[in-house]
Amino acid sequence: MCKLFLACLLVCVMPLTSSYALSHVRLTQHAAPFSSAELDIVRAHLLENIATENKPVIKDDGGHVIHSIPGAVLASPSNRGPRFGQDYQFHWIRDAAITMQAVVSMYAQASTEGKRLLKPYLLNYVNFEHKVQSQPSRPGEDTFGQPKFNIDGTVWDGPWGRPQNDGSALRAITMMQIAQLLLAEGDEQFVRDVMQPMITSDLAYTVYHWQESHFDLWEEVNDVDHFFTKMVQRKALMLGADYLRLMGNQTFADTCLNVSRQLSDSINRHWNDVRGYYSETIYQQHNKGGGMDSAILLGVLLGEVGENDDAFSVSNDRVISSVFYLRNAFAVLYSINLDHPDAPPLLGRYPSDVYDGDQSIYGNPWVLTTNALAEYYYRLAGAYLKQGKITITKPTLLLFRQIQPQLATKEETILALDEPAKFYAIVNALIQEGDHLIALIKQYSVCYNEYSCYHLSEQIDRASGKQVSASDLTWSYASLLAASHSRDELLKQIIIH
Ligand code: NOJ
Ligand code: NOJ
Repeated sequence: MCKLFLACLLVCVMPLTSSYALSHVRLTQHAAPFSSAELDIVRAHLLENIATENKPVIKDDGGHVIHSIPGAVLASPSNRGPRFGQDYQFHWIRDAAITMQAVVSMYAQASTEGKRLLKPYLLNYVNFEHKVQSQPSRPGEDTFGQPKFNIDGTVWDGPWGRPQNDGSALRAITMMQIAQLLLAEGDEQFVRDVMQPMITSDLAYTVYHWQESHFDLWEEVNDVDHFFTKMVQRKALMLGADYLRLMGNQTFADTCLNVSRQLSDSINRHWNDVRGYYSETIYQQHNKGGGMDSAILLGVLLGEVGENDDAFSVSNDRVISSVFYLRNAFAVLYSINLDHPDAPPLLGRYPSDVYDGDQSIYGNPWVLTTNALAEYYYRLAGAYLKQGKITITKPTLLLFRQIQPQLATKEETILALDEPAKFYAIVNALIQEGDHLIALIKQYSVCYNEYSCYHLSEQIDRASGKQVSASDLTWSYASLLAASHSRDELLKQIIIH
């Protein structure tokens, strides 16, 4: 293993740099697009959108005032204004769960002092969702399928696309991550008394409703088949089965495992062999994001279960092929991409999207989907490092050549130990591609004043590169932190080997 490490440094990193001091080489060549001090600023932007005891949000809701309770995660502080017709001052179950996954990983890496500051965010989130789960919904609606809540934890009952069934599954995943941290710290009572019933209820909702019609993560398409939803439901149930077994509930654990297998079969039916990608729905492939959609990429990133998750893992051929076609579709779409043919493209939600947060005149690239592509490249590089080999098949060849035309020439298997130069050239190229995307996100971020930079909205104008739509979108920050975290994990592998 030590040899592998040296081989990597000598063969792959050195030729890319002008310096010969190994430690220096490692650091400079792998300098991240955002320094750790800059990422701290990004973390602060994310936390800024979460209500606490000392930092409540007071929302003017067209005449009446709503006071937040701690743990409310605003999707964005934006509420109807010039060039923005929407109100994002809600706690969306999906956005909040994804955001809190970023907080969980911040917590796991924090110093003792950092943990002390972050722990209230975890507990507040649990308490907020605890209130949410017990709220009544209108007749015929299920609270577990409600997409968004007021910042005081009450159901928002205006007209919306409901139910949305990814939220409850994502919440279960986040809750299990928090439970794991708390159990490791000896907080078993809180986990058993408060969290376990919540987790079980979310898993039960998934078990009993996964075959029902619901809206997709973009809140637009109503269907029984959504790739993204199924991927996160499947993960929730697989993790849930392990968790329930640990907590002594063998019978429900078996049920969860059984349904997760049915979900795997069902997800397989999303493969479109003619087009070469997973499609978001099966029967509405021409309606909005029902076909080619970044939701596939997000579904894989948020739904992959460990390294051995062959069927839908980042290094699976079908996933690789889907990412290839997704990137291709966006590369020719926006003028900002067409004007920079040498840079990887910024991704939107799906090609025919027109949602711009206002008049829905034209769709734009999104920060969170572009960060997701970067995260994908980092995680693919990480998977290859773990496997110690790269199997180049037809789709892999396409994906590698899309990054660098000379990166791969034929279908073959490259073992890290036998052909380190070839192996690490590919790993490095994937890391650099991820870095390039994150550097673009950084370049397009804005400063509000000289002391406050790296602000990210929901979208980037497809022509001017300006941040548009909801400002300071919490999920944009979470996706940047997730990508950066994957990069750190990957580099740890190189350094530890
Ligand atoms: C349509 C958008 O595409 C969707 O994402 C948004 O949440 C809803 N409109 C609500 O405005
Ligand atoms: C619109 C997005 O399409 C949806 O995924 C998200 O949950 C909401 N905005 C809130 O950020």
